Amino acid sequence: MLFSELPLHSVLKKKIAGRGLRELYPPQEEAIKKGLFEGKNILMVTQTASGKTFLAELLAIDTVMKGKGKVVYLSPLKALADEKFRDFTLYYGDLNLRTILTVGNYDSDEPRLERYDIICTTYEKMDSLVRHRPNWLEKVSLLIIDEIHYLDDEKRGPVLESLIANLKLMIPNSQLFALSATVGNSEEIASWIEAELVESNWRPVPLREGVFFRGKVIYRDGDVEKINTKYSSPILDLVNDTITDGGQALVFVNSRRRAVSLSKILADRLELDPVEGAEELSEKMRNSSEVSSLNEELSQLISSGVSYHHAGLTVEQRREIEKAFRNGILKVIVATPTLAAGVNLPARRVIIESSERYVAGEGSEPIKVLEYKQFAGRAGRPGFDEYGEAILIARSTYEVEDLFKTYINGSPEKIRSKMGSPLKFRTYLLSYLVTFNGVNEEGIERYLEKLLLFRQTSEKKLKELVEDSLKMLIEGNFVIATGGTYLPTELGKYVAELYIDPLTALYTMRAFTKGKRPTEFSIMHLIASSPDMPKLRLKSREMVSLDDSLMQYLPEMLLGLQDRDIEYEEALAELKTAFFLLDWINEVPEQEICDKYDLGPGDIYSFIESASWIAYAIRRLAEIVPGAKLYLSLLDELAVRVEKGVKRELVELASIPNIGRVRARRLYNAGFRTIDDIAKAGEERLKRVEGIGDALAKGIMSFALKKLSNKS
Ligand SMILES: Nc1ncnc2c1ncn2[C@@H]1O[C@H](COP(=O)(O)OP(=O)(O)OP(=O)(O)O)[C@@H](O)[C@H]1O
Ligand SMILES: [Mg+2]
Repeated sequence: MLFSELPLHSVLKKKIAGRGLRELYPPQEEAIKKGLFEGKNILMVTQTASGKTFLAELLAIDTVMKGKGKVVYLSPLKALADEKFRDFTLYYGDLNLRTILTVGNYDSDEPRLERYDIICTTYEKMDSLVRHRPNWLEKVSLLIIDEIHYLDDEKRGPVLESLIANLKLMIPNSQLFALSATVGNSEEIASWIEAELVESNWRPVPLREGVFFRGKVIYRDGDVEKINTKYSSPILDLVNDTITDGGQALVFVNSRRRAVSLSKILADRLELDPVEGAEELSEKMRNSSEVSSLNEELSQLISSGVSYHHAGLTVEQRREIEKAFRNGILKVIVATPTLAAGVNLPARRVIIESSERYVAGEGSEPIKVLEYKQFAGRAGRPGFDEYGEAILIARSTYEVEDLFKTYINGSPEKIRSKMGSPLKFRTYLLSYLVTFNGVNEEGIERYLEKLLLFRQTSEKKLKELVEDSLKMLIEGNFVIATGGTYLPTELGKYVAELYIDPLTALYTMRAFTKGKRPTEFSIMHLIASSPDMPKLRLKSREMVSLDDSLMQYLPEMLLGLQDRDIEYEEALAELKTAFFLLDWINEVPEQEICDKYDLGPGDIYSFIESASWIAYAIRRLAEIVPGAKLYLSLLDELAVRVEKGVKRELVELASIPNIGRVRARRLYNAGFRTIDDIAKAGEERLKRVEGIGDALAKGIMSFALKKLSNKS
């Protein structure tokens, strides 16, 4: 089937032809035959690189161009939502589609979304939006759920599962298009979301899977290929072999530390010829973050044609690295699994260093088949190579067999609902009650029936789960049971709309009703003790000193250890996290924070993102806790300080758009104390401040003047 034969808008057809695409891939054709363009729900479980996401893109545009309604594109990761948004604007920019990317800020129904046709977002953000019951929701006629196998993920799975259940009840007539390359129980999932299943093993670019052992790659088809083993190291030899052959390699490792060390070894020993553009990028990396040791490291690596890629890097650094790999400036990337989902990179060969991963507290565990298939699927993407290769490394003959059996010839695991944990369940049950503004027993039954969990757990377990959750929600005054109806209280609504765990709210209220005066430390500790806050990892050598600090700081904490049911090690991890936040709001330089807590700037960003959200939620909760009103201005100030990482005197300056902690400090040191000072001083004086160029000075000035005129 040709794209030109599809019942698409002629302008869209021209676009497709302009991208050099002519013929549909067979799985795409099958999805269309099953009614994708006639509004049918479809679950597409077909190979990596078989054009699923691309087909979703076309369907989205067609839906909008035919005036059927809005489209929501959902992805598990911000980076993927962002990439899709960029694709829409890059390839279809002149079609006048109103496309928007929205992530973060969980406390709004975002009325502006009313004006957009295509909304690219994450599962979390959409879940938070739905709780506000926005007016525009009923105009959504197509929901695209990319990478739906994330249902099996501990963290994102329940978000997605509950979101799907709510949407099925709220907008039952909108079309669902769900995609994944790796679902073991595709029939079950299709039946759950009431979709037709499209399944196929066809791949546009052949993927040769194999195992490396003693100098040879043994392929699935029986071929055996000798590799030049001049480095006597499997990875070096495999990478060298790929590059000598004119290809690029992507190596997946299981820890960041390994990604960094292996990329250094590769850079040192392979001694690749420099590529044009490498020096320029290497220079650019020298100023790519506030952490100069990291910049230096990346800069050196990149000039040797190699880089690592993990979540400790900033988003911009990661994007630059991916781009450089696409442009051929980098020949090798050593990545952690964060690079595994959905991306199109020119990797001819994917090498998977180990099929085991260290899990804290559990020891080594085998990776999932699903993960392996996603890693492998990054090789051989259309438009880049004629074929792709995915290679595992064995250490014994036994392992060769085992890797073939488990991974290469294995099928991805069945997707199992992760909603069964009481901790998760109560949050989503509350969200359902809030979304529907109270329901009776039958209403609860309706929700349960829409969950995957309903099909995967016993009736007895489900009943217990509901009873326990309702009990907690009623005791915490989030819900009241009256006349057979479960009604959310004002507090319950507040908490669901703030997108926090009800426990965070309970802790906050308990903390403030004790009448203790909060301090900088005690608020940071309150944030750190929220179940919504990820914790910094504990190292065994820190235990003793953290234990001392625990004794010392205990009197200052708003909640004693007995106020919450937590384990000793958790208490230490919370304390460490609180110290990190305290350093952050006291302007300890990022470099120092990274060294002290063993983090990258990307980690700081993601911890601070969560912390800012919780700081904001605590501030909002304080409005409704008697006795906490006294502290509102302190909490306001601390919320800004957490978000921006500044001391008290910089709160005002840091509220200027595009002014972070470093520039705010420079402005302050140059004599500016307030926005008024800036408005009065003028652009020329601003430009004399280090790091403030023409464009930024203009922006700051117009912001300051507007503020000034609003005041008068
Ligand atoms: N019919 C087609 N002809 C040529 N190229 C295509 C066609 N369909 C898609 N492509 C291209 O193939 C590449 C892979 O497509 P896409 O990213 O949609 O795959 P996918 O199935 O979503 O993969 P993954 O499971 O890894 O997310 C993209 O660069 C896309 O533009
Ligand atoms: Mg995809």
